[in-house]
Amino acid sequence: MSSEPTNRRIGLWMIGARGSIATCVAYGLSGLREGLLDPVGIATAQEPFRKLDFAPWESFVLGGHDVCRRTVSESAAELVRHGILTSDLVVAGSTEATAYEARIRPGLLDEPDVGFADLDPAAARNGAREARAQIEQITEDLRHFRTEHELDAVVVVNLASTEAHRADRPEWASLAEFEAALAEGRSQPASVLYAYAAIASGAAYVNFTPSRGASIPALRELAETRGLPHCGNDGKTGETLVKTALAPMFAARALRVLAWQGYNMLGNRDGEVLSEPAHRESKLRNKGEVVRSILGDPNVHTHVGIDYVPSLQDWKTAWDFVHFEGFLGARMSLQFTWVGSDSALAAPLVLDLARWAELALRRGESGAMTHTASYFKAPVGGGTHDFHAQFGKLLEYAAKPVRAARAGR
Ligand SMILES: NC(=O)c1ccc[n+]([C@@H]2O[C@H](COP(=O)([O-])OP(=O)(O)OC[C@H]3O[C@@H](n4cnc5c(N)ncnc54)[C@H](O)[C@@H]3O)[C@@H](O)[C@H]2O)c1
Repeated sequence: MSSEPTNRRIGLWMIGARGSIATCVAYGLSGLREGLLDPVGIATAQEPFRKLDFAPWESFVLGGHDVCRRTVSESAAELVRHGILTSDLVVAGSTEATAYEARIRPGLLDEPDVGFADLDPAAARNGAREARAQIEQITEDLRHFRTEHELDAVVVVNLASTEAHRADRPEWASLAEFEAALAEGRSQPASVLYAYAAIASGAAYVNFTPSRGASIPALRELAETRGLPHCGNDGKTGETLVKTALAPMFAARALRVLAWQGYNMLGNRDGEVLSEPAHRESKLRNKGEVVRSILGDPNVHTHVGIDYVPSLQDWKTAWDFVHFEGFLGARMSLQFTWVGSDSALAAPLVLDLARWAELALRRGESGAMTHTASYFKAPVGGGTHDFHAQFGKLLEYAAKPVRAARAGR
């Protein structure tokens, strides 16, 4: 049997380790450990989930990959200026942050991101190597992390900048074809190489971004073959969360939605990356689909716009306009404005997902963690986008009898 969760050491490896979300995870985790923060926004710390034997905050050791030269404490200073982190929390977490910074390794620059500002030259060199050599390097970094910190389990979370959208490729259809493409030296998106290395090295994998990651059929097969759990894609933190909670109400009342328009403005680094059309395409694919699918009406007029407005910093503002028709043809509208700190909304979800993934590992579960669908805009494994129905699946999973755990994961 595997050891009790309290005695286990869990590695949480974040790709995009110096980004805003990862920085909030690092300082948030140290604040939770020190009792300086309440677990607001963390579902696993609330009823009915808290009775599950989740790993305690003390068991997590952080590490990660990034491709920039900015340090975690510089990212934290930025988040203090933007009113997301408090200086007290940053001061209290400074020792842990220094130790975390020392565990961050140069990652793989994604091919179309060659113009990336603030680039760590080591990451540029990694990005220029053959795909198989890149996988070996990531695998070696993860192996070193596991052995140096005597970890019982590792969860890898992708929190890197959204990659440019890539169309489906024939070699993604199966593991055999993917490995043949690697053997021929064909390049692959960095998110796919990280995901391959994570799963091949025995880690659970979470894709919080819209990038491909482990969602391609070849890597889903790899996870099944290795008996490892994974989930994604694209954390559902703000406007889409509200949409997927509200749209089922229109469906349940048989009101006819004519149009659902959404307009997002954001000013952080994520917003800057999404101002590039190829990167924005990855995000818009996930945001546009949900309303039509919940309403079961492919003809609803919907459009989502995203603009980069630097002065907003991390405070994403989304305005949605829902035009709908009632009995007697009466036309009405609903409008809402959402103003949220994207990073403060995302960080607790990352901590939740790390716990769900570690629990799935300990329980010996493999393949897509479909019970985590409520956390994502485009859940791997598909299913409904209705937030309430998705949350019902999480409750069902929590109430399920536990299968025997496998040791040494
Ligand atoms: N905040 C939210 O509400 C939310 C919701 C859903 C998805 N996401 C996604 O989460 C990701 C992180 O968001 P953020 O606000 O922290 O962004 P950020 O720009 O602050 O951080 C991203 C980090 O990734 C690093 N990076 C870029 N390319 C990399 C690579 N190839 N390998 C390793 N590191 C790389 C960057 O240097 C940066 O430090 C984005 O993809 C975003 O779209 C965020």
